[in-house]
Formats: sequence, structure tokens, C-alpha cells
Amino acid sequence: MSTVHSLNDVVMNGHIVVCCGSGGVGKTTTAAVLAVEGARRGRRAVVVTIDPAKRLANALGLEELANEPREIDEKFWDPSGTRTPGGQLSAMMLDTKSTFDALVTRYAESPEQTKRILANTFYQNISGALSGTQEYMAMEKLHELHEEGGFDLIVVDTPPSRNALDFLDAPKRLLRLLDNKIFRMLMVPTRTYLRVAGAAVQMFLNTVSRTVGTEVVEDIVAFFRSFEGMEEGFRERAHRIVEVLAQPETRFVLVTSPRRDAVAEARYFAEKIGTHNLTVDALIINRVHPRFTNSPTAELLARTQSLQDIAVSGLERRAARGRLAAGYTNLANFAEIADRERAHIETVRVRTGAAPVSFVPYLSHDVHDFEALAEIGSILFAEPTGPDQAN
Ligand SMILES: Nc1ncnc2c1ncn2[C@@H]1O[C@H](COP(=O)(O)OP(=O)(O)OP(=O)(O)O)[C@@H](O)[C@H]1O
Ligand SMILES: [Mg+2]
Repeated sequence: MSTVHSLNDVVMNGHIVVCCGSGGVGKTTTAAVLAVEGARRGRRAVVVTIDPAKRLANALGLEELANEPREIDEKFWDPSGTRTPGGQLSAMMLDTKSTFDALVTRYAESPEQTKRILANTFYQNISGALSGTQEYMAMEKLHELHEEGGFDLIVVDTPPSRNALDFLDAPKRLLRLLDNKIFRMLMVPTRTYLRVAGAAVQMFLNTVSRTVGTEVVEDIVAFFRSFEGMEEGFRERAHRIVEVLAQPETRFVLVTSPRRDAVAEARYFAEKIGTHNLTVDALIINRVHPRFTNSPTAELLARTQSLQDIAVSGLERRAARGRLAAGYTNLANFAEIADRERAHIETVRVRTGAAPVSFVPYLSHDVHDFEALAEIGSILFAEPTGPDQAN
């Protein structure tokens, strides 16, 4: 069970913070907010963003693709100069392909091997686009930053996967691929003891060739063969990533919107994270609709009705009555949405145990600059937070 009590705890005592959740819920925004708040509290923080909106990227000083962290001048994230001394903020944008290239370079046995792999057409096609590669490279990057040191707080955004768990499975999937029989045969076809199996592989390749073309298959085979000798390095690395994710200083922040579909995904995530022996350390409900009033929806609708039933004379008075009735209907609609959201939120809350829950209202503007990040930061870090606090 998580021992985290607040988001303050997450940014002060966490070393790696992974922001996860389904597509579009606010992972990138949250990751940036947590890194800013960490830096403001005196930590040397870095945020690893994945495909941030262009305007947010600009605000973070990431105009061009920056696969290495860049420090951001404190005048942007601490305009009032009230930060705790020692705080630093850096940001980077994950570049899947160059992270993969760096990994190949690191584990290749010779510069020739590196060259051969990087020049391979199949590699060039998969290194940026293969499903799961982005997830794996995000984990790889966090491992690299962790190993190199230099940051107390590494906040990692996760890709907009269909399944919020994909990034957790990515290192294990790589291990499974390395253990896959066909993969192994493709990698070491020259070893004598595999000669018999070689015929089966050949048959497999002939079938694939008919579908995708001989050239593609030759490329693929050349790619796997050029990996010979590197799989051990990759395997160890994937194991270490799994270990880093399991460290107690690694915190998982689950972000969700209160919508039914996002909540269903968050619930699934909360249930499954236990199967990886991990826990959700904090839950953030983003884009919550305010309720505006405590009156029950039925009462608000009854008011609309009674206003409509009152007989009034005169055009102006009738128009005023109409506007008032419309106002109550609006209020009733908002209350209904808010009630539904709160019911959805409860279904995920019960599955995240003791993890602290924070709420961010649906802002009337996007979150693309430090001012807006600070606005969310002040809501998230004001305790206690509730779904109606920002009404
Ligand atoms: N509380 C909020 N109120 C209003 N807009 C918000 C709020 N939180 C985030 N946004 C906006 O919603 C959009 C999506 O947010 P964000 O990019 O952080 O989501 P994401 O989970 O990273 O998405 P993806 O899965 O596509 O990577 C952005 O334009 C962001 O500025
Ligand atoms: Mg994102």
C-alpha cells in the first residue's frame, strides 16, 4: 500500500514520478505542473514530456526537438522569486528515435555494428513508429536520467497509449521479444545447432516474403542479424528499468478526467498496477465541472417549471422570467454533470486505496504557459482539495 499522503510528499520525497492515464486526460500538463512545483520547493527537477502541445513546448523552451534536458531560466517559473533556494527546472521532449539510436550505439560491439543497424531501412522504420517503442524509450530515458544523476526529481510523462498500462509492459515485452524463438533464430542463424531449426525459419520467411516482399524481409533479417551480441545488453537494461520502476522512491500519479470512459480506464489501471507489484501513489482528477450550488437538481428544475408557470404581463417581464428560467435550467444541467462526475470519480477512488486524491477544475483556457501551470499548481497543492474547491 502507498505511504504517500499528499502531492507535496510526491514532489518532495519522490525521485522518479510517472504521470500516467488514458489519452488526453492531462498527463503532459500534470507532469509539467509537478516538475515546476518540485523546483519551486527547492528540488533539482526535470520533466520529460512526450509530444507536448506546441505552445506548452515553446513555454518550456523546447522549440526544436530537445532529447536532452535543458534548464529553464527561473524568471519564467518563479517570477515572484519566492522559490526555496537550490530549486532548478529543466525540460526535455522525448525523441523516440534518437533515444533508440543512443541505445544501439551504447550496446553495439563496434562502430561498424552501430552503423549497420542505424542504416538499416527496417530499423529506421520501426525505431520511431513501432507500437510500444515510444513507451519503452520513455522508460529508457528515465533510466538514463536516473543513472546519470544530476536531478533529484525526474517527472516522466507517458505516451497517449490506448492502454494506460502499455509503458509498464514495454520493458517486459522487449524481454519477451528477445526470448522469442523466431527472434533468436533470426539473430543467430549461423550457429550450427540451429541448422535444423533454420529450415523452419526459412519457411516462415518465405511465407512472410510473399506478403510483404522479399526486400523487406531481407532488411528485417539483416536487422536482426546485425543485433547479434547486443541482446544481453538490452536484456540487462530492460531488467534494470523494471527494477527502477519498483523502487520505493518511484511514484505513480494516475491522472484521469471524471468522464465515464477515462474513469473506466483509470479503474482498470488501478486494478492492474498491483499485478506489477506497484501502487498508485496519488490520484488527480482533472477537468472537473463545478457544481455551483448545493441544491438538488430536481429542485432547480422545479424552479424553472414554477417560473414558467407564473403568469406575468408585459414583454419585458416575460423576457426577464425567461432568462431566469434559463439560468436555473443551466444550473440544473451543471449540477447533473457534476453529480454524474462525482459518481464516476468514486468508482476509481475506491480502487486507489489510501492514495491522496486531488481535483483540478475545468479551466476556461488551455494550459500552455507558466502562469496556467502555476494556477493548476496552486490548486493541486492547496490542501485539502475537493471537487468544488475552485467554484
Ligand atoms: N484543467 C484543465 N482545464 C482546461 N484545459 C486543460 C486542463 N488540463 C489540461 N488541459 C488542456 O487539455 C489538453 C490536453 O492536455 P494534455 O496534453 O496534458 O493531456 P495528455 O493526457 O498529455 O494528452 P495525450 O494523451 O494526448 O498525450 C491540453 O490542450 C491542455 O492545455
Ligand atoms: Mg501528453
